[in-house]
Amino acid sequence: MGVDKDLIKKTAQAIRHAKKVVALTGAGISVESGIPDFRGPAGIWEKFDPMEYATIEAFSANPKKVWAMLKEMGSLLEKSKPNPAHISLAKLEEMGYLHSVVTQNIDNLHQAAGSKRVIEFHGSGQRLICMICSRMYERQEVKLDTLPPRCSCNGVLKPNIVFFGEPIPWGAHLEAREEAGNCGLMLVIGTSAVVSPACDLPAIAKRAGATIVEINLEETQLTRYISAWILKGSASLILHALLMEVVAIEKS
Ligand code: APR
Repeated sequence: MGVDKDLIKKTAQAIRHAKKVVALTGAGISVESGIPDFRGPAGIWEKFDPMEYATIEAFSANPKKVWAMLKEMGSLLEKSKPNPAHISLAKLEEMGYLHSVVTQNIDNLHQAAGSKRVIEFHGSGQRLICMICSRMYERQEVKLDTLPPRCSCNGVLKPNIVFFGEPIPWGAHLEAREEAGNCGLMLVIGTSAVVSPACDLPAIAKRAGATIVEINLEETQLTRYISAWILKGSASLILHALLMEVVAIEKS
């Protein structure tokens, strides 16, 4: 599926002229890094029932079972590298065209690509937290040969990510709403926009006067009601083309 050249030009101009550009990203931006998304044809929730693996109740009831899935996903994260989509966003930030990335992902690929202002709306897989004493551990320092991994206080360790039924980290929620409420352009990239409160951010931005542009393989519930237009295609191709267009305009 070719990239729509006119929409690329239109979006690049919008990026250059917006008072502040914010990106909201979802699992789709990391699919080309080898990490499956959740609701796509090969999505994680096709293989694991989220009611049995992604709620805090399920984790508390059977941490060993959920950790078996987390360990499988963790091995994919270990091998994953930023793709041109992450790299293009980091470059746009470096050039002063992107203010921040609000990500629903826990894969740390935005930071690995060089993005500085990353708001981790669903936490991060880089650290584990004890369910009893809240002591934090770096992922690398915890062995997973016996599951679930335990704290020195013997409490069960949990990845520092947001399970269904848990609150969004307060600081990240506040920062993300702040960014959405005062941006002029929001790029909504690789998210099905079905999980709240992350999926409410584009509506907050639009209500505050921002233009919402989606980058996705397919339309979402935002496309008709919230988005000004959608760039249909792969995030890595589109974001690389956008970066090239912004650079070309700058040089012209
Ligand atoms: N390029 C662009 N978009 C893509 C690509 C790609 N290469 N691959 C997939 N997509 C799109 C899909 O069309 C879909 O709209 O990315 C979106 C992925 O949607 P989900 O799998 O629902 O992921 P996400 O929106 O991030 O899920 C939100 O749900 O399960 C929870 O906490 C989890 O953060 C996650 C949240």
